[in-house]
Amino acid sequence: MRIDLMAGATLSAALPAHNPQPVILVFDSGLGGLTVLEQVRRARPDAAYLYVADDAAFPYGALSEPQLVARMIAVMERLLARHAPDLVVIACNTASTVVLPALRQRFVTPFVGVVPPIKPAAALTRSRLVSLLATPGTVARSYTHDLVRSYAADCAVTLVGSKNLARYAEAEMAGAPVSDAAILAEIAPCFVETEGRRTDVVCLSCTHYPLLLTRFERLAPWPVTWIDPAPAIARRVVQLLGERPQRAPDAPAARAVFTGGTGLTPALGRSLEQRGLCETQVEAMPLVLS
Ligand code: DGL
Repeated sequence: MRIDLMAGATLSAALPAHNPQPVILVFDSGLGGLTVLEQVRRARPDAAYLYVADDAAFPYGALSEPQLVARMIAVMERLLARHAPDLVVIACNTASTVVLPALRQRFVTPFVGVVPPIKPAAALTRSRLVSLLATPGTVARSYTHDLVRSYAADCAVTLVGSKNLARYAEAEMAGAPVSDAAILAEIAPCFVETEGRRTDVVCLSCTHYPLLLTRFERLAPWPVTWIDPAPAIARRVVQLLGERPQRAPDAPAARAVFTGGTGLTPALGRSLEQRGLCETQVEAMPLVLS
């Protein structure tokens, strides 16, 4: 079962003036943010979309917090100057759980972030055993630990930091299949059984993971509720930008920008086209770590 609840999003305080055809920039380290883009486009199909994959710095889960903050400020500086979006969705838990305050301090453009949906998980669980599947970065964040303390103090929350799943999701989209055994090894620690109780809710706390959801459902040792915060993010965007104006036509296909582009295979091009991204460009921004 896949559940969407009004949670898991964080908002910028600044509200933009309602633009009849807003430009929305959806950003991730790679392809995971496409799961958020899909939901946002469904809510505002008339908006102009730019999807940016910072693949030159993928995976964000491997960067230290100061490295990630520095990288995101540098990349956003360029993207905002070049594309002037009305709103940016940071469709990445690994980034949102650490970078949003710095972005909001630096730029006037509103940012909507994606953070682990702990609150709805605590509201849904009956067994009080909840798991959070995320990157090692998100699992280590004090932001994530604060969420657990604030909203799930009466639950046993298992934090599972997966080193490989984001990469597996990218590989599958680029036409390189990943075995069931490899995927099962990554999700298995989410399934806890103790004193006759079992985990019944798993938070998908990396935007790459919904790309593998049908595999997770098939491989899970027992059925659980998987929470994907993407639909809630779309509702936040509509709160900020307003509903689609009456009679506004659907916008043409969205554009994709990659900061590296080394993984842009023909198979990936086809996957992007299937998701309505028909124009792909590389704006090279190599990762420089200090
Ligand atoms: N999609 C990103 C997230 O939501 C992370 C993947 C990465 O490690 O770059 O956390």
